[in-house]
Amino acid sequence: MGSANKVSVALLSDEDIPTCFQVVSKSFGHDAPFVDIYFPNHDTPSGQAQGSKRLLAWKQTDPSSTFLKAVTQAGPDGPEQIIGLAVWTLMKEAPEAELEKAENVEENWPDRDDREFMARLWREYVAPRSRIVEESGGKGVYVLELLAVHPDYQRLGAGAALVEWGTSAADELGLKSVVEGTPVARRLYEKCGFRVEIEEMRFDTGKEFAARRKPKLIFMTRAPES
Ligand SMILES: CC(C)(COP(=O)(O)OP(=O)(O)OC[C@H]1O[C@@H](n2cnc3c(N)ncnc32)[C@H](O)[C@@H]1OP(=O)(O)O)[C@@H](O)C(=O)NCCC(=O)NCCS
Repeated sequence: MGSANKVSVALLSDEDIPTCFQVVSKSFGHDAPFVDIYFPNHDTPSGQAQGSKRLLAWKQTDPSSTFLKAVTQAGPDGPEQIIGLAVWTLMKEAPEAELEKAENVEENWPDRDDREFMARLWREYVAPRSRIVEESGGKGVYVLELLAVHPDYQRLGAGAALVEWGTSAADELGLKSVVEGTPVARRLYEKCGFRVEIEEMRFDTGKEFAARRKPKLIFMTRAPES
């Protein structure tokens, strides 16, 4: 392994998006209910095409979001390989709590029940981060919106490098960072200075969705270091 697995972080290009989306799908698998509903059928060709399209539209229309890739090289002159991605957003205003104002809901969730379930999850998902953004009084907060490292390349430091890009930027501006973390990423976030604010985020989606898997997410925040 050695230098063959040296990891670096760079801005990703539009052309990288389909590969990055595959990394998202592989890394989360079906362990993360939020990702399963947010990116429907993400492990199928049609789900990946749709997910890539959404990521691309997001990248092209939201200048406050920075799309990063973690790469490694197969040998000294080998091709670059994308092994991870992160999206960091500098949020100065609270996100839309109503999903239909943020997304093309009919296209993304054609099934009416899926759409309603997703909308209810979304409202609760964005509540804690909205509070932190509002508390910043217009200064803004760095939000880690997406983080994934391909399972074949985990524990090589890619996740930490992608997180540290955002926490360094936040430190420079004296801003807080937040993340809605999966349990598997908790240790990584703690190492990077995040602390748990909500051990298990609340997802009260009503009794009609009682049988559906709910996300298990930890809301974590990090104060800037000077
Ligand atoms: C969480 C994730 C991004 C970590 O990526 P990674 O590249 O493996 O992380 P790193 O190699 O930088 O790990 C840094 C440290 O975090 C901790 N850590 C990382 N993965 C861990 C795991 N599975 N279990 C326990 N600690 C872990 C370790 O302390 C690790 O240091 P060490 O390897 O020296 O012990 C990756 O496991 C992943 O993509 N998981 C699935 C998707 C996901 O849950 N993303 C987070 C969404 S909020």
